Amino acid sequence: MAAVPTDRHARTVVLPLLAVAAAILLQAPGPAAAETTAERGYRLLLTLPLVPPTLTEAEYFDLWQVWPEPQRAAAAAAPPAERRRMLLERYGFQETPDRPGPIPQQFTPDGKGNLSENCLSCHGGPVGGKVIRGLGNSLIDLATFYEDVAALRAARGIPAVPWPEGVPPPPESPVRGPNNAWGGAIALLLLRDRNADRTDTLQFPAPTPEQMFLPTKTPAFWLSKRKTRYYADAFIGKSHRDIMQFIASFAYSGEQIRALEEPFRDIYAWINAVGAPPYPGPVDPALVQRGRLVYLRDCVACHGIADSYPERVIPVAEVGTDPVRALDMPRDFKLHLGEGWFGMDGATPLYPDTGGYVAQPLDGVWATAPYLHNGSVPTMWDLLTPSERPKIWSRSDAGYDHARLGVEATAHAEMPADLTDPAERRRYYRTDLRGFGNQGHAYPPAGLPDADKRALIEFLKTL
Ligand code: HEC
Ligand code: HEC
Repeated sequence: MAAVPTDRHARTVVLPLLAVAAAILLQAPGPAAAETTAERGYRLLLTLPLVPPTLTEAEYFDLWQVWPEPQRAAAAAAPPAERRRMLLERYGFQETPDRPGPIPQQFTPDGKGNLSENCLSCHGGPVGGKVIRGLGNSLIDLATFYEDVAALRAARGIPAVPWPEGVPPPPESPVRGPNNAWGGAIALLLLRDRNADRTDTLQFPAPTPEQMFLPTKTPAFWLSKRKTRYYADAFIGKSHRDIMQFIASFAYSGEQIRALEEPFRDIYAWINAVGAPPYPGPVDPALVQRGRLVYLRDCVACHGIADSYPERVIPVAEVGTDPVRALDMPRDFKLHLGEGWFGMDGATPLYPDTGGYVAQPLDGVWATAPYLHNGSVPTMWDLLTPSERPKIWSRSDAGYDHARLGVEATAHAEMPADLTDPAERRRYYRTDLRGFGNQGHAYPPAGLPDADKRALIEFLKTL
């Protein structure tokens, strides 16, 4: 079960926190001198708002007021700590020991009562109920969150900020976990020129609705250090500027974005320094030895091992996984990104036509389920057994399946008919939806005997 935050927990952190605050004040202006660039980068994610406020702190803690019944009544009757837990659970947010207090790691406060969504909304997540630094958030449900924020504001008569004319709106994901970060990024870049300045005219042809919806799972940051290129299709060389596209809010001037370049050097340093978490259970050494041989025979050519990582991109036609992310991203967007300020004015290598998916390094792979670029396969056993992968599945938030290696999932023959709360529907992964297919990656093509799968899984725990 997830660690439930309690008031007792809150009290035990208050005193050390005061001591830390006092220590920081005493040696103002800077924090502890021993902090590395990477540590500073991680601290900045939790303390420096990088985008304009998303909502107020008071609005966040009031969101339960617009929930459907019976959730609303349950929240109304719950003690504060329990209501806090219900908020976290509905949206797939978490509190973090790295910044104690009731504000989820997904937001950065500005000290004036506002919260800005931060990179950890998608790039901070738990496995087995424990928050792991740098892990993608497989529970995130931004669709439900933004719907609830809109409903709360509407109920309070606060007008919505108008969406810019001519920019196709990016849909949120109908399934929690995989998200449409790309739809958002493409929309933002449509109104940025080559210098990253805000414009009112589209900078490349408006994408089709299909091109605005590219659901993707959030990869673990600890893979970054092994890579020279980013994203599921490895379309661009990695750099601190490229990832600044994700803060290009319509409300920011180009100057405001460029002024954040220094913090992003630190954030980028952290992304390339964070390590993979060790598997938390026991392993069987003899089985690991056998599994290692299977890995060296059937997997290593694409995924590499330790420092020897080939960064191979396999065409969709060959790997056979869902084609949407690799084939439907607008080419004009990639060119605009690569040629402009975010692409170092063309100096960042661009590969706009890979037409395939990169075979990720498998460091810490025990923690990165559900698997594949769209998070469609709940466990390693399912990945290694293509014909039996579940077509509709749900999962527990905090459970872990050590035998199958992955999330604790339940397969369903069909969608339950009685789900009226959209948040409940999004808890079911539906592989028949566009972009959410679970086919392909049948390696080795003839399949593995169960004994080999078990040995391979034991070996994969040690990566
Ligand atoms: C709405 C969710 C979301 C937010 C917010 C977000 N990301 Fe991401 N990020 C993703 C997804 C999804 C991918 C995978 C995209 C792909 O592979 O095509 C990704 C990929 C990346 C990668 C590439 C990793 C790799 O190994 O290829 C980096 C680096 C990254 N994001 C950094 C950031 C930073 C820095 C921020 C904050 C400024 C941020 N992201 C905000 C969802 C998000
Ligand atoms: C021919 C190259 C190739 C071989 C061989 C191969 N893979 Fe992959 N693998 C890929 C590619 C490409 C992807 C990305 C596909 C996607 O996400 O759609 C991938 C994705 C994965 C993922 C998903 C990673 C994640 O975090 O979601 C896992 C796990 C994986 N492979 C394990 C294995 C194992 C174990 C073997 C050996 C039995 C293996 N692969 C053999 C190319 C290969």
